[in-house]
Amino acid sequence: MIFGVVLAGGIGNRMGNVEKPKQFLTIGNKPILIHTLEKFYVNDKFEQIIVLCPAQWVEHTKNLIKKYLKDTERVVVITGGATRNDTIMNAITHIEEKYGIEDDTIIVTHDSVRPFLTHRIIEDNIKYALEYGACDTVIPATDTIVESQDHKVISNIPDRSKMYQGQTPQSFKVKKLKQFFNELTEEEKEILTDAAKIFVMKGEPVYLVAGEVFNIKITYPYDLRVAETLVKEER
Ligand code: CTP
Repeated sequence: MIFGVVLAGGIGNRMGNVEKPKQFLTIGNKPILIHTLEKFYVNDKFEQIIVLCPAQWVEHTKNLIKKYLKDTERVVVITGGATRNDTIMNAITHIEEKYGIEDDTIIVTHDSVRPFLTHRIIEDNIKYALEYGACDTVIPATDTIVESQDHKVISNIPDRSKMYQGQTPQSFKVKKLKQFFNELTEEEKEILTDAAKIFVMKGEPVYLVAGEVFNIKITYPYDLRVAETLVKEER
C-alpha cells in the first residue's frame, strides 16, 4: 500500500509574526496546504493521504479540506509531533494501527509548504521507493556550497558538480524507516532532522529523484511573493 504523508505540523517561525502557520496562508485563492493536497489527491495510487498538523489546527484543517476538496474520503487529518521526524512517526503509527505494515508499504512524505510539486515527481518517488526502499527529491546545486565549521571561516568547499539541494518528497519503505528510527539514540534523533539521513546513517542507499527548480519551500515572506507568481503561472 502507498500512503501520502503531508507534513503540516510546523508553526513557521521564519515566516515571522503571521496570524497562522504558513501552510494555512493563502496563495492564489486557496491555502497553501490545499494546493499541496490537490497534487496528492489526483493520484489514485494513494490508499490514504495523511495530513499532520499542530493539535490546535486539526479542526481548522478538516474544515478547509471539506471546503476545498470534493471527495474527502481518502484524506485523514491527525496531530503532528514536536519535530518533523516525530510528525512522520505519527503517520507511521496511524498506518500501523489502521492498515498494518507490510514489507512493501511505502510513504511519500512531503512538506505541506511545497505546493508546486508535480505528478511526475510523485510518480518517480513511488517507483523508486518501491524498487529501492528509499528516495529523496533533489536538484543540482546552482550556487557553490561553502562549509564553515565555526561559522566564521571556510572549512571546505565541496565540488559543486557532486552537490544537490534536497527538496521533498522523500519516500520510504515504512518498515525500514520505523526500524532505523527506533534504533537511534536520543542524541542522534536530535541531530537527524532529515528522514533520508536516517537511511544514510545506516549505510542504506537513498536514490535521487529529479526535482524541479520551482518545487520551492515557502519559508520566508519573500517565498510567499514568489509563490504568488508561480500560482498565477500554474493557472
Ligand atoms: N513540520 C512538521 N512537523 C514539525 C515541524 C515541521 O510536519 N514538528 C513540517 C512543516 O509544517 C513544513 C515542513 O515540515 O511543512 C518543512 O519544515 P519547515 O519549513 O522548517 O517548517 P516550520 O517548522 O513550520 O518552519 P520554521 O522552521 O520556520 O519554524
